Amino acid sequence: MHIIARRAAIGFCSPVLISLCTSTLTGSRSLCTMAELSSQQVVFNKPKVELHVHLDGAIRVETILDVAKRRNIHLPANTVEEMRQIIILQQPATLTMFLGKFEEYMHVVAGDREAIKRMAYEFVEDKAKERVIYVEVRYSPHFLANTKVDPIPWNQSEGDLSPDEVVHLVNEGLSKGERAFKVKARSILCCMRHMPSWSMDVVELCKKYQHEGVVAIDLAGDESLNCEANSEHRKAYEEAVRCGIHRTVHAGEVGPPSVVKEAVEVLKAERVGHGYSTLEDQVLYKKLLAQNMHFEICPVSSKLTGACNPDFTKHPVITFRKDKANYSLNTDDPLIFNSTLDLDYNTAHKYMGFTEEEFKRLNINSAKSCFLPEKEKKELVNRLYEAYGMECSTAF
Ligand SMILES: *[C@@H]1O[C@H](CO)[C@@H](O)[C@H](O)[C@H]1NC(C)=O
Ligand SMILES: *[C@@H]1O[C@H](CO)[C@@H](O)[C@H](O)[C@H]1NC(C)=O
Ligand SMILES: *[C@@H]1O[C@H](CO)[C@@H](O)[C@H](O)[C@H]1NC(C)=O
Ligand SMILES: [Zn+2]
Repeated sequence: MHIIARRAAIGFCSPVLISLCTSTLTGSRSLCTMAELSSQQVVFNKPKVELHVHLDGAIRVETILDVAKRRNIHLPANTVEEMRQIIILQQPATLTMFLGKFEEYMHVVAGDREAIKRMAYEFVEDKAKERVIYVEVRYSPHFLANTKVDPIPWNQSEGDLSPDEVVHLVNEGLSKGERAFKVKARSILCCMRHMPSWSMDVVELCKKYQHEGVVAIDLAGDESLNCEANSEHRKAYEEAVRCGIHRTVHAGEVGPPSVVKEAVEVLKAERVGHGYSTLEDQVLYKKLLAQNMHFEICPVSSKLTGACNPDFTKHPVITFRKDKANYSLNTDDPLIFNSTLDLDYNTAHKYMGFTEEEFKRLNINSAKSCFLPEKEKKELVNRLYEAYGMECSTAF
């Protein structure tokens, strides 16, 4: 606290001048042109924070194939490339098509202890490669279980893996990954809009595992099934507030601004997942700006799910940036979008005019908006300031 206050007194600090691209061939630094920016190149090769990514949308295709083989589950493809073709969304699609992609592989990993631990561990390894130093990864424990879940998902037969044990296994995989790859990984448990009967379980699991890596509750799924009338989601979120469980909600991705309003006002969301349609309600938008509400933006995802105009140069995040809003850049479901976090950053740079300074600013805001306890949050923010060559904490 003291150090931060003193640093603040210095005022705006001079950021170290680093150009956006480093030529991979010569190692020399130069300003890059669009042509130089292949999808392989990394525009912001610095420590990052990611706050919106689904564990079950971030599994390695190799792992899905391995597990299917071990479990004798027949898949319509034999090679990684063939399977990738089946799973990934190539074109801007609809939410229904997007959700259909999970049907292609969730039955392979659900109900399997080894697979669940493995995908959590590998997830952390993949994030380390993207230079993510802190990630909050989310999933529905019910979707990976095969007992104490009604209905049993993905056409599995009843087994002995409960949502509770799923959370335990994911925690184990994540902590093993944290130790191996020096990335801090926490999790968020998802309620599903179409399954209100699971929501109280979800908040109870958040409470139970609050000190073992679970930091928040989320509500995901079809936004047309909104929850004002649906008291189970609401009750779960009230319990979260009562117990100091942090809250985020998928809202305004494809749904109207009224879903965002409900997320913030009724469910007491502290962050909004996506939130693009907020811009359609200027009163709400101004209010959320004034509140410093954090928006978890997923550029590549928003195009492929059909949530936003497929023309990236018209993306809502451009307005968020102009208004100095509080937001992060995230992958959402890299498996399904065949993407990486670097692709989201490259996209923001190439089509939306994002600069190195903005990448730093948004990462610092992401760190400040994360769901870690205060002390750990401060450490994270300070690590970014250091990595970015910034002297003080008032710059943004
Ligand atoms: C997935 O992305 C990689 C890397 O950008 C690319 O080389 C590959 O062709 C993509 N796969 C498909 C099936 O589109
Ligand atoms: C669900 O499983 C049953 C038997 O296990 C099988 O006969 C049926 O085809 C499966 N349905 C789907 C949609 O996969
Ligand atoms: C974003 O939210 C965090 C946490 O509330 C806050 O510390 C930060 O100042 C906010 N940033 C902006 C630009 O509103
Ligand atoms: Zn999401």
